[in-house]
Amino acid sequence: MNALRQKIEQEIRERGPIPFSRYMELCLYDAEFGYYSRNAEQFGKGGDFYTSSDVHAVFGRLLARQFDEIWCALGSPVKIELVELGPGRGLFAQDVLDWSEKKFPAFFRALQYVPVERSAALRARLRTTLSHHLKSGRAKLGSFDPPAAGPSQEADSVSLAALDADLPTIFFANEFFDALPVEIFSPEGSLRIAARDGRFVETWVPSSAQELEFLDRYAVHPEPGERLEAALTAQHYMRRIASTIQCGFFVAIDYGYTREEQLAGRHRGTLKTFRHHSLGTNPYEAPGEQDITADVNFTTLAATAEAHGMKTQRLVTQSQFLLGIGEANQFADAFEECRLPQERAKVALQLKHLVTPAGMGESFHVLITSKGIEKEKVSALSGLSFGRDETSR
Ligand SMILES: C[S@@+](CC[C@H](N)C(=O)[O-])C[C@H]1O[C@@H](n2cnc3c(N)ncnc32)[C@H](O)[C@@H]1O
Repeated sequence: MNALRQKIEQEIRERGPIPFSRYMELCLYDAEFGYYSRNAEQFGKGGDFYTSSDVHAVFGRLLARQFDEIWCALGSPVKIELVELGPGRGLFAQDVLDWSEKKFPAFFRALQYVPVERSAALRARLRTTLSHHLKSGRAKLGSFDPPAAGPSQEADSVSLAALDADLPTIFFANEFFDALPVEIFSPEGSLRIAARDGRFVETWVPSSAQELEFLDRYAVHPEPGERLEAALTAQHYMRRIASTIQCGFFVAIDYGYTREEQLAGRHRGTLKTFRHHSLGTNPYEAPGEQDITADVNFTTLAATAEAHGMKTQRLVTQSQFLLGIGEANQFADAFEECRLPQERAKVALQLKHLVTPAGMGESFHVLITSKGIEKEKVSALSGLSFGRDETSR
């Protein structure tokens, strides 16, 4: 029998039915058997899904260009921290660091890159992927909370609370928020998971006042026959991030929606699973062996950031964002190593996948919020240049 299933059933026997978010937390992040903890093989062709950095290094290179621009907008400070949340196996970090070193040396010299990864297996992978930059001190592994006391392999990691609050900071997250546990609601209330005869069974309890308030403010209430998620964990992380930033930016890229879209009938129930590149809808199948994910509620992230003193820009699509950064030099960042026409053709297809609606261009959105920087400097960023004449919030 699946070892994680046994562990979850044991917890249910001891505590009673558990919230869906706890079930999802154990499936993804149980230290021993969780999907992200077990190994570092989730990404790319041999794994379960592709993210933008798996498609081509141009994603990280364009972001390096945008980070350099942000650094200039901040007045080219002597030091800047770039915290990447949920870096996975570190391809994005590697692309940003390598490209910055090559193309934006002044920014690179100021850069302190802090990848914050929860999975120990993926942290081990990061130590290899980023070994050159870790050794030189340009990168330093980070964590939300201080590492446990005593000798450990993690002794070299820095907790976010220990970052220098006076330094300008950029927080970046690609597909971090879609991997955070969610609660699930129906008109019957809030979902709880029980276990009976070796199977997980769904039960419902009345939603708490906090949950109902969340649905009122940031989402919608489920109608008969519907199930909706609430990103309470994402809200918790957004609070921590926004209160850590004293002067700087938060850039999140993910698939997701706004409350307005939910009111218009879209994104009403988005929980899904991925295994070997196949999409599924049953989170109770093979716990710990498949990814479980939900679309990101951008309204929650923006409102929470604003409640902590950040200013939000108009949400743009990944397509608008990348085209805005890359158009000035016709995406030279993508084609730099191409010598032969067929190499150019291959890279052009990969780039197309990142920007076109049939690929990741329209389903992924970019949320940018900032604190302590003049409005004009923020809205002048090239990533926000598409549709600049429209009113920004
Ligand atoms: C869908 S993957 C995205 C990986 C990478 N950003 C990319 O685009 O390829 C989500 C990542 O977030 C990490 N993660 C989830 N919760 C985390 C937390 N609280 N702190 C740090 N990392 C976390 C997971 O372990 C996983 O590596």
